[in-house]
Amino acid sequence: MYARDDETGSNSGATNLIGCLTYQSKAAAPPSEAELNDLVAKARQRNQSAGVTGMLLYEDGRYLQTLEGPPDGLGKVWQSIQQDERHEDIELLTEHFVEARLFSDWDLLLYRKRGETPRSFWDRLRRKHPLSQHIQSVVRDAFEANEVGLGDLFARLAESGWHGDEIVRQLIEPSARALGDAWLNDECSEFDLTLGLGILQMAGHAVRYTQDAETLRTKTYSIVLASAPGETHMLGQSLLADQFTDAGWSVEMSFPGSDQALANQLEHQRPDALDVSLSDSLSRLGRIAALRETVKQSRLVLPDHNLVISVGGRLFAEAAATAEHVGADHSRQTMAGTHLRVAELVAHAREVRSGK
Ligand SMILES: Cc1cc2nc3c(=O)[nH]c(=O)nc-3n(C[C@H](O)[C@H](O)[C@H](O)COP(=O)(O)O)c2cc1C
Repeated sequence: MYARDDETGSNSGATNLIGCLTYQSKAAAPPSEAELNDLVAKARQRNQSAGVTGMLLYEDGRYLQTLEGPPDGLGKVWQSIQQDERHEDIELLTEHFVEARLFSDWDLLLYRKRGETPRSFWDRLRRKHPLSQHIQSVVRDAFEANEVGLGDLFARLAESGWHGDEIVRQLIEPSARALGDAWLNDECSEFDLTLGLGILQMAGHAVRYTQDAETLRTKTYSIVLASAPGETHMLGQSLLADQFTDAGWSVEMSFPGSDQALANQLEHQRPDALDVSLSDSLSRLGRIAALRETVKQSRLVLPDHNLVISVGGRLFAEAAATAEHVGADHSRQTMAGTHLRVAELVAHAREVRSGK
């Protein structure tokens, strides 16, 4: 999913996206201390050159790894990892685009249940910085999946003058490491750790929204958020509306009864982008052909306009379908970060339109 299908390159467009994935797997055979060290040493070298950061946990024959980095580099590393015969039953747990890294200091941080941890580093971080007083409560909220509480805290810190980068670096990243500590100390399960990291990641994302909102507001991108004709579920569409509105987009909703009704709305509004949602709760496997037709008809309305078309729903979240299957420019595997990816595509489309 991380390979780019356009020529925008990783540094063009509105924002540099960071891909982030977490998976777990079983070791084909328990690695010796030396084998594990060798694996990590080689992985570090490669991650560094690919701009990838993250952490690897090993315990009792199981791996849990989080990796983040530019889509191209991350895609290559992930492909190699999936083909590696030293582990099996690889299960992808989360996959997102984010604006800020959790592990910016680490090309690959290794946790071992009974190994050494760079604890003194974390202790130093916690003592040193004023934001560190919040680490404990952030860790607790992450374990309790209290995304709202975390969001409130980050918003208060931003209001009192802390820059988003600082919040991420001095509070969110150290908290992520503290979650790793808790797992090392048998204070939580692997599941809790994964969940906690996911919650932190979402909250970190929210921090950056707030920080970037003013900059993004100066842009005048527009999007029509449509449910696929005949679709009755609108959860994704309504959550996306919040996300795009927060990011300063001009947002129009569409609940068309037919492709023609959608086409009429597009002709009238001439948006930069269109997002078509299928149900987030049901797989809708039989809808691919109809959605392909919706996408095709939508493109025909504004032939010279370079309309960016994004699609989403459980069908795409579970990777049963891709953007290519339905002729779209982008398919969402998650709602997180959608406005960033679409902004990037719109920036590129506008460049093409203006003949650059
Ligand atoms: C559990 C596990 C985690 C790994 N993590 C990484 C990693 O973060 N970065 C990396 O480059 N290789 C990692 N590797 C090694 C890769 O799978 C692969 O062996 C290495 O990148 C060389 O790839 P190549 O044979 O395609 O050149 C990992 C392997 C295992 C078993």
